Amino acid sequence: MELTFAMIKPDAVERNIIGSILQKIENDGFTIAAMRTTHMSKACAEGFYYVHKERPFFNDLTDYMSSGPVVLLVLKRDNAIARWREVMGATNPKDADEGTIRKEFGIDIEKNSTHGSDATDTAEFEISYFFSKSEIQA
Ligand code: CMP
Repeated sequence: MELTFAMIKPDAVERNIIGSILQKIENDGFTIAAMRTTHMSKACAEGFYYVHKERPFFNDLTDYMSSGPVVLLVLKRDNAIARWREVMGATNPKDADEGTIRKEFGIDIEKNSTHGSDATDTAEFEISYFFSKSEIQA
C-alpha cells in the first residue's frame, strides 16, 4: 500500500463538487486515510508550491490557491501516486482523457479542480506539509 497527497482545489469546492470527486476516489479503490478542509494563506500556498517558485505562473497559482477553501486528502492504495495522477488526467483539462476528473470538472490549466503528488519524495513532503503522522489512518 502506498500513500499520496491529493487536494480538491478552490474551483471545485466553490462549485459544490467535493462529493462527486470523493465518489470517484472511493470508486477507484482508494481509502481516504486523512481529510480536512483549510483556506491557505498566500504564504502557505507559496511554501506548498515552492518547487515552482521560478515558474512564470507561480504568483497567479499561489493567488488562486489561496483564494478560497480547499480539501486536503491523504489517499491510500496500491500504486497510489501514479494511479491518482491517472484518475485526475492531464494537468491541462484540454489534454485530459475522457473519464478523468480534470476532463469532466476542470476549467483551465490553473482551475484544474484537483492536485496530486508526482513522486514519492513530493508525496512525503506534501503529506507532512499538512498532516502529522497521528492524523493518518494506518
Ligand atoms: P498542480 O498539479 O496543482 O501543480 C502545479 C499547478 O500549477 C498545476 O496543477 C496547474 O494548476 C498550475 N499551472 C498553471 N499554469 C501552468 C503551466 N503553464 N504549466 C503547469 N502547471 C501550471
